[in-house]
Parts: sequence; C-alpha cells; structure tokens
Amino acid sequence: MVVVTEENFVVMDVYQNIVKLRTTLEAQRTNGQRIALVATMGNLHEGHLALIRLAKQRADIVVASIFVNPLQFGLNENWEQYPRTFDEDCAKLISEGCDYLLHPDEREMYPNGMAEQTRVFCSTMTDVWCGASRPGHFEGVTTVVTKLLNIVQPNIAVFGEKDWQQLAVIRRMAADLCVSIEVIGAPVARDTDGLALSSRNRFLTKQERSKANLLYETMLGMAKAIATGDRDYLKLQKQAGERIEAAKFRLDYLAVVHAEDLEPATAVDKDLRILGAIYASNTRLIDNIGVQPV
Ligand code: PAF
Repeated sequence: MVVVTEENFVVMDVYQNIVKLRTTLEAQRTNGQRIALVATMGNLHEGHLALIRLAKQRADIVVASIFVNPLQFGLNENWEQYPRTFDEDCAKLISEGCDYLLHPDEREMYPNGMAEQTRVFCSTMTDVWCGASRPGHFEGVTTVVTKLLNIVQPNIAVFGEKDWQQLAVIRRMAADLCVSIEVIGAPVARDTDGLALSSRNRFLTKQERSKANLLYETMLGMAKAIATGDRDYLKLQKQAGERIEAAKFRLDYLAVVHAEDLEPATAVDKDLRILGAIYASNTRLIDNIGVQPV
C-alpha cells in the first residue's frame, strides 16, 4: 500500500494488493459505509472526474481503479501505447476527494496468466457495433469488471455513458449474474465544440481534431430528424455515413438502436440511442446520444 499524503495527512490510499484493499474495505463496510467503484484505465480527464463526483454524491467511500487491462485489447490494438499518466491521475483523484485507489499490476490481476484466466462472456450485445470491430474486447471488459466488482464489492458502480455499449453490456451482465450492485451511467463529458472527451483524442492531428466534432454534430442532426417524426432510420444512417465519409473520416458504423438491448430500432421503439464509431487515421472515436421519438 502506498499512502499519498498532503501536508502530513492521508488524502488517498493507493493499493497494489487486492487482499489488503479488501481488508480495508471490509472494515468500512462493517461501519455501515456505502462504497462506490469507478473503474478506469487511467489517463484521467474531466469525463472520469465527473464519474468520481457522481460517485461521491451517491456513496460514502469512493474507490477508483486504474488498470490498463490487456485482456480487452485486440491483437491489432496497441496496449503498450495506451497513455500511462499515474502521477497526474493521482493528483486529479485527490483533488476530487477520491478515498482509495486500486492500482494492481498484471500479475496481481491475472496471477495464472491471461490465457488461463477464467472469463466472463456476455452472449448478447457483444458481437455487434464496437464488438464487431473489436472481437474479444467485451469479454475482456466483462471479465475485468467482474473481478473489480468482486474485489471492491461496492454498493454502486459508476460508468461513463460515452461507451454506451459497454454500459449496456455491464448492466446486462450484472443482471444475468445477479450481481448485487446498482450500475449508474454518467452523462458524456464534452469539449466546448461537442467532441466527447476521450483519452484517444490526444492521438488526433491538429487537422483531425478541428473537425472531429462532426460525429456529434451528425448525430444531433439524426436525433433532430427522429424527434420531428422521421422513422426511416436506414435512410438517416446512410445520409449520416455519407456526411462522415465526405469529411475524410472512415466510418465504422452509425446506427439507431434500442437503448437497452442495442437491437436496430424499429418504428415502434421509444427509448432509442444513436451509436457511432469513426476512424480518423488510426484513431477510433466513439459517441452516442439518446433520442425519444414523438
Ligand atoms: O471504460 C474503461 O475505461 C474500461 O473498459 C474499464 C471499464 C475500466 C474496464 O477495463
């Protein structure tokens, strides 16, 4: 355990060891404290800090985790290059009043090696949209999130709505496996021009960044059309895709789906989500917005 202190008082305990964190949290739980988990891969930005703030409103104790989970990176995805900014992350967590940080290494999380690791596989919603482009990704997410939930045993867990599919999959997994927690989604944090905040935005060139809000703008246009009665979702998706490609982004997908099960929306569905993913060179950007047809 590392204790991060400021002016000689403890401001955040950082644990690399799972058993030690569990022992500490057990005592908090016995004292009747409500515990929140905010799982991250670090490189924290305002979007993550909003999750911590929401967690603090809803629980007595906030536990964040930073673990760049190799299990959720595909063979063509660069796990090594994922930005690691531990000292800055700690400073940000402290400034938001985070109580504990779990920062395990790979051996601590996967002591038997990744190949031997028992996996959690959610059979629905994981082979479409982002799952279609990132085979195995959601299995890595559901496996590590299950481990983190079992380690921390929180009352609530807060995840960003920016990765809507991840949130939907985690909700479904928690329900299917009778995990006794409340999964809370926090709204997408955006830059002033609307671009969803993401650790990947740092990989955009200046030129790509200047037009990267097009995904959000395009989704807003789709949402406006739907909210004013347009039910031809395939046409809207096609037009939106053409707009993205005309700006020299590579379209992965743009889809109007049912918010909960992520099935393509039908004309009678009410609770809809527009999901999108595009590539600027090799940088993959995702976003989504909610829409309620009239
Ligand atoms: O959203 C993320 O940062 C990751 O997928 C998560 C939930 C921390 C699991 O590694």
